[in-house]
Amino acid sequence: MKYADLSINDKHIISEHYDDVYFDMDNGLDETKHVFLDRNGIPSILKEKNEFTIVETGFGTGLNFLALLNEYEIEKLNTTINYYSVEKYPIEKGELKKVLKVWEDLKFKDELASIYPSKNGMHKIKMHKNITLHLYIGELNDFLPLLESGVDCWFLDGFAPDKNPDMWSDTLFKKMSEITHPKGTFSSFTAAGVVKQGLRKHGFFVKRYPGFGNKRHMIGGFLDDKL
Ligand SMILES: C[S@@+](CC[C@H](N)C(=O)[O-])C[C@H]1O[C@@H](n2cnc3c(N)ncnc32)[C@H](O)[C@@H]1O
Repeated sequence: MKYADLSINDKHIISEHYDDVYFDMDNGLDETKHVFLDRNGIPSILKEKNEFTIVETGFGTGLNFLALLNEYEIEKLNTTINYYSVEKYPIEKGELKKVLKVWEDLKFKDELASIYPSKNGMHKIKMHKNITLHLYIGELNDFLPLLESGVDCWFLDGFAPDKNPDMWSDTLFKKMSEITHPKGTFSSFTAAGVVKQGLRKHGFFVKRYPGFGNKRHMIGGFLDDKL
């Protein structure tokens, strides 16, 4: 296991390894809400379900997960949530605490920083009485075979395909189509052709939407049983 190699300036948290940005300090949380929560109909869809399974590709700082937990608390939800995620380069606990400090409103940030695992393998962490984080420390391709049918929603968040092409493989898109509930949804910050084509090839309806801030596009969609 290797820790993430972060560089922090007053605007961004950057991965030196991938030469790409985790989040923007000014509005990273709003971007997470726009791209991952709103696009997948969260929190309103959670009000209709007793149980809901989310898979994220790239846990990073845990910002998406923490934003979800916040919405859950604000909306006083009762849904049981299984949140699966994978991280090849975990962030060292002290560094994560520092990085998450910018988000004053995120309730569970200190808990996450204190339990963020750094040993390879699957870690099952109860973050809330109804919410379990299943965080796999290791490579995406070793995580995918561990996932079972019944995924409701995907957060595709693994750095830009031109910086990290291994994250956006046919293996991922095929696995997604095999284990997603009919009409299960996905979203991603990237609208790169390789991602749209890969998802469409495996039966997903894919649509481009306005991106957050000055980003032109993002994508969202669902598994289309008619395709
Ligand atoms: C854009 S960041 C994720 C941001 C994150 N969702 C958040 O809320 O902070 C992408 C993450 O994917 C991880 N990653 C990239 N390639 C990977 C791979 N092949 N297997 C597992 N994790 C990978 C990176 O280390 C990085 O932490």
